[in-house]
Amino acid sequence: MIPFSLVIVLFPGSCHQQFVAFAHADHTLSHGIDGLLGTRNSPALFNIAWYPSFMWDGGVNHLEVQPLAPIANPVEMDESIANVIVKLQRSLTYQAMYQSAFGTDSVTTQLTMRALAQFMGSMISANSKYDKYREGKGALSSQELNGLQLFRTHCESCHAEPLLTDMQFRNNGLDNTFDSDPGRAKITNLPQDSGLFKVPSLRNITLTYPYMHDGRFQNLGQVLDHYMSGIKQSTTLDPLLSTGGISLNPQEKSDIISFLETLTDQKFISDKRFKEVQ
Ligand code: HEC
Repeated sequence: MIPFSLVIVLFPGSCHQQFVAFAHADHTLSHGIDGLLGTRNSPALFNIAWYPSFMWDGGVNHLEVQPLAPIANPVEMDESIANVIVKLQRSLTYQAMYQSAFGTDSVTTQLTMRALAQFMGSMISANSKYDKYREGKGALSSQELNGLQLFRTHCESCHAEPLLTDMQFRNNGLDNTFDSDPGRAKITNLPQDSGLFKVPSLRNITLTYPYMHDGRFQNLGQVLDHYMSGIKQSTTLDPLLSTGGISLNPQEKSDIISFLETLTDQKFISDKRFKEVQ
């Protein structure tokens, strides 16, 4: 078992902040070093031990190598893993932590990736009002229940329970063309993947605005308006949305939002084990 003190110090807390479920608060596109702007919205982090792939386009497919991407990305940390290892190896504190975690004081890339993967894997969010309802330990209001029913009718086929994502790549009609960001096609080079992005989990969704891969929507009302009347046609638009979007009246729209509010997990965002070490 790797001590949390070790993994927490390794984890960059400024781009993934706990109080917003480890998304990046108030940033449409995430900032990296020197204020450089990334091209995509920093995703929230939880329940990732179940994910078969990471990033909006699935460009990384194993949790143990995921940290290599932001470390080396010039607009994120702009570091080399070799240099990170040299810095860690110089620190007596880290040497002692590696000794107690792994039985060796030699800091290697593999052990470092393992420690980070352990930490990320332990970030489980399953304590929302919705979870208590599912476990039979709490009730939802009639408005929330109505929202859940509507959600199951209109959204569940992509945002599948209980993780609230089916982990697939899909085009939910944000754009007609994808020249600025081809999404999944950037990884596969297949035209049929153009404009497809990973279906994000909706857990903790009230905390993780702005929304979508480029952070274009500020609130859930705008997201629902998009599904109701903003769907853009294209050859890769998901068939589930190709018949002109989702039809909801104003009451139904607010019922769905009140259901989405039951997905916030206060215990997760205040869990002391995940607090940044100053
Ligand atoms: C056809 C599949 C599909 C359906 C149906 C669907 N979504 Fe989505 N949803 C997606 C995809 C894909 C994204 C990410 C798109 C992107 O950023 O490019 C997304 C993004 C979102 C986001 C933003 C999440 C974030 O972290 O930025 C919210 C909120 C959302 N959907 C809510 C809903 C609701 C509510 C419904 C039902 C009314 C719904 N979705 C129906 C596929 C779907």
